[in-house]
Amino acid sequence: MEKQWWQEEVIYQIYPKSFYDSNGDGIGDLRGITEKLDYLKDLGVTMLWICPIYKSPMDDNGYDISDYKAISEEFGTMEDSDRLISEAEKRKIKIIMDLVINHTSDEHEWFQTALKNPKSKYHDYYIFKDGKEPPNNWRSVFGGSVWEKVPGRDEFYFHSFGKKQPDLNWENPELREDLYKIVNWWLEKGIAGFRIDAITFIKKDLTWADREADGADNLARCTKAVRNQPGIIDFLNELNEKTFKPHNCFTVAEAAGVGYDELGNFIGDNGCFSVIFDFRYADLDIASGSEWYERIDWKISDLNKKIMESQLSMQKYGFSANFIENHDQPRATTKYLKENQNNSDAVKTLGAMYFFLKGLPFIYQGQELGMVNFERKCIEEFNDLSSIDQYYRSLQEEYSKEEALNFVNLRSRDNPRVPFPWNNEKYGGFSQNKPWLSMAEEYPKINAESQIGKSGSIYEFYKSMIGFRQKGKYRNCLIYGDIQPAESSENVIAYKRFTETEEIYCYFNFSGKNTVEQLSKGGYEQIWTTFGEAEISGDKLILKPFQSVLLKSKP
Ligand code: GLC
Ligand code: CA
Repeated sequence: MEKQWWQEEVIYQIYPKSFYDSNGDGIGDLRGITEKLDYLKDLGVTMLWICPIYKSPMDDNGYDISDYKAISEEFGTMEDSDRLISEAEKRKIKIIMDLVINHTSDEHEWFQTALKNPKSKYHDYYIFKDGKEPPNNWRSVFGGSVWEKVPGRDEFYFHSFGKKQPDLNWENPELREDLYKIVNWWLEKGIAGFRIDAITFIKKDLTWADREADGADNLARCTKAVRNQPGIIDFLNELNEKTFKPHNCFTVAEAAGVGYDELGNFIGDNGCFSVIFDFRYADLDIASGSEWYERIDWKISDLNKKIMESQLSMQKYGFSANFIENHDQPRATTKYLKENQNNSDAVKTLGAMYFFLKGLPFIYQGQELGMVNFERKCIEEFNDLSSIDQYYRSLQEEYSKEEALNFVNLRSRDNPRVPFPWNNEKYGGFSQNKPWLSMAEEYPKINAESQIGKSGSIYEFYKSMIGFRQKGKYRNCLIYGDIQPAESSENVIAYKRFTETEEIYCYFNFSGKNTVEQLSKGGYEQIWTTFGEAEISGDKLILKPFQSVLLKSKP
């Protein structure tokens, strides 16, 4: 793959509603982010992905946009947004925005016009079908039919996600041109690119044929018919040619459903995006990747296998986008470390394991503090649409209330969305007033202030790991080197990063016991560890519980 300007970025994801509230209304905002830029600079990240800040009724916390060229009032103004971009730039931090173009809010003017006047051109900006009954049995991602009745008419509109998120009709060239104008308008403001939401949903199976039901609701998961459908590449290439490519911007796509054999269309020299997220190892605890009640028991060796398969597939074409958390996933500590979620050595090993993979590391807010999932006592305490839907779906599938609540606690998207704990004061110093979403603890024990500058803390660990990767002696190999799995014992993940002139072996012990690893030859130098030193004796490496080491092999 040809060298690109964005390959050395370390990206930090911000969920604006929950990052920092500058004016005491309980909701995080743009000024709040600007005030905390020095914190991010200190951590060492080089790019921020900011979740949607556009005008929105916030049914899905901004993933339901009612005006692409306006900022949501609770977040601030367009001036605040311009100022955030320029203040970040002063600190050499780039900004990417979230681009939600599979759907809009039902409150978007286009949709409102389409409802009011079915003869207007905007009617064809969405997907409407005539009839007295829903046109098919597809289930939306957030539950219930994908079809919602238009009040007062024998007509339905289509939504892959929530019913306040009608899908745009990408088959319509006029709609596509309007979207490209919006994309270019934002790029011209000086942002570095986009994280692109749900982009594999833009092409649908146009036969709209029923599918075999797969739940007690008698509906069929829509993803097989609306995700990564044949023909999508033409839309994606056009989008790229008319927007991203002329600006040479960075793009990371949420591209669920893409097969490893198709990656060449998506990333690398001939792909329409810079990188895409792969959810296979993020969703290894649930069977279909979508139903939270279909829990799967997995082992470290399964995680290892999934990660390596992903890495090897991605590297055939380009770089990958490496993450363990985001605003839709539970906290990685709880998910991957289970009962060891509060063991800081385990948290560091998890952080290091994905951080030194080949590709761009993404860090989600609070991950650098080792935040963990909460446990809520009843469904009324949740805000997230999807949590509420999954709870009632679980009951419908005949799980008990306790089981349903447990599934939701484990997977809820509210887990990562709780306010960021800046200190151990009331509401974690996030706001002077009650936050929009309740925290796990009002006076959080895990918080930034108690970790900054404290040696051995998870924050300081992340900071030094970022520095080591970005500025250390081995940066070239750690950023650009290829990856290959290495032999390891059952609870250890191991891989090799290498260039023509360098070789670095990376070992991550996910067990609470010493392990013995077989090295392929003698003569290794330890160049980095999560703590202390590991023991090397002859061709054996002895790792302490939850210890990680990077070894350089001597030529
Ligand atoms: C993506 C977003 C998620 C949102 C959905 C619908 O999956 O990450 O938060 O709910 O798209 O826009
Ligand atoms: Ca606020």
